[in-house]
Amino acid sequence: MNPVLVESSEMLRTILAGLVHDCEARGVTLEADIPEVSHMVYVDVSAMERVIINLVTNSLSYVSKGDIIKVSLKNRLDGVEIIIDDSGPGIPEDALSHVFDRYYSSRPREVATPAGVKTSTTSRKERGPDGDLATYGTGLGLAIVKEIVQAHGGQVYAANRPEGGSRFVVVIPRRFKSSRFVKTSVGARRGNAS
Ligand SMILES: Nc1ncnc2c1ncn2[C@@H]1O[C@H](COP(=O)(O)OP(=O)(O)O)[C@@H](O)[C@H]1O
Ligand SMILES: [Mg+2]
Repeated sequence: MNPVLVESSEMLRTILAGLVHDCEARGVTLEADIPEVSHMVYVDVSAMERVIINLVTNSLSYVSKGDIIKVSLKNRLDGVEIIIDDSGPGIPEDALSHVFDRYYSSRPREVATPAGVKTSTTSRKERGPDGDLATYGTGLGLAIVKEIVQAHGGQVYAANRPEGGSRFVVVIPRRFKSSRFVKTSVGARRGNAS
């Protein structure tokens, strides 16, 4: 972890700029509802980019052409909340408590066989015309999201929107919880090797 002090709105706008093309290529609108200026937060920017990419990429694989993925940022007293809303099928109620588990995936899995990589349940054709976004699941995306967010002293949770679709909320604390970073950065410092 390499946390730096950043202005959260600007950080999120920059991250989303990198995702616009993928969304447009699928005919999906990436909508942003971000205040001009928000709290300063201590964030490992590339790790937080991974969080947003994982969440938006999941949404992208569940929505249809013409749909909207909306990313909002809200200032709270003690931090900022980043909310990713999609209009996909949402998450079955009994799966809500498992989606952040390592290897939990409702997608078909690719299984390795001596003859090469095959899937047990789905034909390769069902990958879809683009083939860019994996239709197959590893169940690791949200586990990584949770790990990164917790390393920031934050929280992440999943919900279903009353109007349909899923909502993922990432809470980043305003105050830097240094002890957590110290723990996760031990032995991981860059540039000390030489
Ligand atoms: N936007 C979403 N809409 C509906 N279900 C979702 C969404 N994002 C994640 N999920 C559910 O959470 C599971 C775990 O997601 P993830 O950890 O990214 O693994 P993977 O994408 O490899 O399946 C998915 O398989 C799916 O069941
Ligand atoms: Mg995923």
